[in-house]
Amino acid sequence: MEYKLTTNTFNNLETRAAIKVIKSGKFTLGKYVKSFEERFAKKFNRKYAVMVNSGSSANLISIASLFYRKKNCLKPGDEVIVPAIAWSTSYFPLIQYGLKIRLCDVDIKTLNVDLNSLKKKINKKTKLIVVVNILGNPANLIELKKICKRKKIILFEDNCESLGAKVGKKFTGEFGELSTSSFFFSHHISTGEGGIITTNSKELNDICKSLRAHGWTRDIKESKIFKKKKSSFHEQYRFILPGYNVRPQEINAAMGLVQLKKFNEMIKVRRKNAKIFQEIFSKNKNFIIQREHGISSWFSFTLIVNNKKGLTREKVLKVLKKNKIHFRTITGGNIAEHDVIKFLNVPKSDLNLPNASIAHRNGFFIGNFPKDLAPQLRKLEKILNHII
Ligand SMILES: Cc1ncc(COP(=O)(O)O)c(C=O)c1O
Repeated sequence: MEYKLTTNTFNNLETRAAIKVIKSGKFTLGKYVKSFEERFAKKFNRKYAVMVNSGSSANLISIASLFYRKKNCLKPGDEVIVPAIAWSTSYFPLIQYGLKIRLCDVDIKTLNVDLNSLKKKINKKTKLIVVVNILGNPANLIELKKICKRKKIILFEDNCESLGAKVGKKFTGEFGELSTSSFFFSHHISTGEGGIITTNSKELNDICKSLRAHGWTRDIKESKIFKKKKSSFHEQYRFILPGYNVRPQEINAAMGLVQLKKFNEMIKVRRKNAKIFQEIFSKNKNFIIQREHGISSWFSFTLIVNNKKGLTREKVLKVLKKNKIHFRTITGGNIAEHDVIKFLNVPKSDLNLPNASIAHRNGFFIGNFPKDLAPQLRKLEKILNHII
């Protein structure tokens, strides 16, 4: 029995939806994208949603949008604090837009931002905090929001791997001025490739809409970010912002609409699997597993090998490989230990990140997806008990 990292959650419903789009002859930014955006925003309690072609593009457009709004906008040289465990494209737009990246450590148990480490990095130049909810587990969003409000710092939530997670009654993704989701294949809902930005600000929504499509005004109806010209000829090709083309396709949105309907059921199964995982590993001193904060949507199951017990990750992974259990790095690992760090211009003093380093060197994750994984998890239990 092979235990993979992910599975295909598409069936004939997504296939039919995709074929319908192909037959329609309309491929970009049409009724399916509009409908997906409206339903997504409604389901996750946000006023606006802007669909794009990936979670990475959603991060890029979000960060860019904060440079073009009228009040409280970012400027090159402003400082941004971001935890050392995130995805590569959680960081890249920050440096590409000239922000000064300050790294803080993570909590070894939750794998989310460590607030004590974060607080030490806040100074007068701090204008933005990027919080990344790791692998379905909500960060300490209530406290973060309070800090941001008190210090007049913008909070941006990269929620690309945590759709459906909750803190109290609120979803993750409801806390940031802007929040992003990814619909890549292995994520909580998938559109093949795809992503979305959500916000409650009409201004940011309109800026994001322009930035995603050539920097033009065509897809924006009534807005305060520009005044429509009398001539519809010029309005059709009117460029107001230095944007991109990161538009989603109708096919992705049509498949996303089907996946949204399956969402509640898929999350239920993920959580059921998580109960078994927790039951097996929560008392096992050889591993640190991710401690749930709030209600996780369980993207995957992390295991950090406790070296003090004489076990090594190398030994564990060798046995897993032999038994066809797939594994991988926890999200992107510690960004400070990647070659790309030399391009991110992070102060040297920020590169000492003990917990992120432990997760990077001793940790890995195994898959969780909306199928009953009880047999796979029991097999894992048996194998690991055997090597200990
Ligand atoms: C935290 C985080 N941010 C951003 C992304 C990028 O999303 P995408 O792969 O859709 O570009 C990912 C992808 O897994 C992610 O985990």
